[in-house]
Amino acid sequence: MRELGIGLIGTGFMGRAHALAFRNVSAAFELPFTLRLAALADADPVRAQACATAWGFEQAHGDWQQLIDDPRVNLIAITTPNHLHYPMAMAAIAAGKPVYCEKPLAVNLEQANAMHLAARHAGVVTRVGYNYQHNPIIGLARELILNGSLGEIISFQGEFSEDFMADPASPWSWRCETEHAGGALADLGSHLLAMARHLLGNVESVCADAQTVHRQRPAMAGSQDQRSIAVDDQTHALLRFASGARGTFSSSWLKHGYKNHLSFEISGTRGTLTFDQERLNELRLCRVGQDGFQRLLAGPNLPGYAAFSPAPGHQLGYNELKTLEVHELVMALAGHGQAGTDFEEAFEVERLATAIRLAARERRWVDVSEV
Ligand SMILES: NC(=O)c1ccc[n+]([C@@H]2O[C@H](COP(=O)([O-])OP(=O)(O)OC[C@H]3O[C@@H](n4cnc5c(N)ncnc54)[C@H](O)[C@@H]3O)[C@@H](O)[C@H]2O)c1
Repeated sequence: MRELGIGLIGTGFMGRAHALAFRNVSAAFELPFTLRLAALADADPVRAQACATAWGFEQAHGDWQQLIDDPRVNLIAITTPNHLHYPMAMAAIAAGKPVYCEKPLAVNLEQANAMHLAARHAGVVTRVGYNYQHNPIIGLARELILNGSLGEIISFQGEFSEDFMADPASPWSWRCETEHAGGALADLGSHLLAMARHLLGNVESVCADAQTVHRQRPAMAGSQDQRSIAVDDQTHALLRFASGARGTFSSSWLKHGYKNHLSFEISGTRGTLTFDQERLNELRLCRVGQDGFQRLLAGPNLPGYAAFSPAPGHQLGYNELKTLEVHELVMALAGHGQAGTDFEEAFEVERLATAIRLAARERRWVDVSEV
């Protein structure tokens, strides 16, 4: 049994989610490594130390490069704002260390391309936090598509909407800057594009419309100072898959009522299935000859589920998906399995998002191979 030293950068929403997953994965699965929570870094060294103590990491750093250089650290997990993924991942790859980076891979296609090429050249294992694909019931959806239960797939309708920016008084954040993030398409839409590719494969061409609804937001909560916003609040697109299937896509952070509405309907010549991340333990399925939808509940018959519960219908949550993602990563590090989104696949997701932006800007159909 070897030891794997985890180095985690960032202590925000995703920093905590990664810490929980790294702590829980050994309890859920038999692993080829002993996991050691070696080091935690944050730009705020006081917070880094407080979180390291609370979350069980041995060492805290205020400087992320020190964490990458730390010899006890064998795996770099990056949970910082999007524009920092590139310098941090490139430094980790240069040090020959595997990288587990949050999505989206980068803030532009040039960075994403350099990252996946560098990883391939260095031969390091990489994964990107497209955690929703690790849901056991998404595995079932993929199986139903691949084994022909739905017939020939003809239609994908996908939407990822939330409402955390719906109030025009919701303040500016790094998510509102093109060079730091990239709007609702980058923040939410990238998950849906990754899911569409995971389930149905390559998209060949797109046409799209992107809109900034609220062009100014308070600089911070309650502030009278306003900051200009240029990133999209909502993006709509039409997709043509290489398989011949047609699709619709939308991402919005303005849709009141939705908290995590990553959803899709997939129709084939023999059936339709639907999924909504707000009810992540269910699929709805209608096959030819049925008069309506049947509700399928996740249970221990689906790979991954039994690691958390022996009983059907007892439900996994968001953090279990993160734990499943970390499990696949650890197995890949031991040379077992290819599951999960690596930098090369995450680059393809970025390529698709870039094609959607280009189509929206130039108001035309764009072949993804153009970008
Ligand atoms: N996979 C998912 O479901 C999911 C969900 C939310 C966010 N994300 C992604 O996770 C990333 C982080 O998002 P978040 O919501 O956790 O953001 P956040 O603002 O909550 O946290 C960002 C963290 O990065 C730290 N940080 C900033 N600059 C740093 C630096 N120079 N050195 C070290 N630490 C630094 C901040 O102090 C903070 O702890 C983003 O890429 C986002 O797209 C993914």
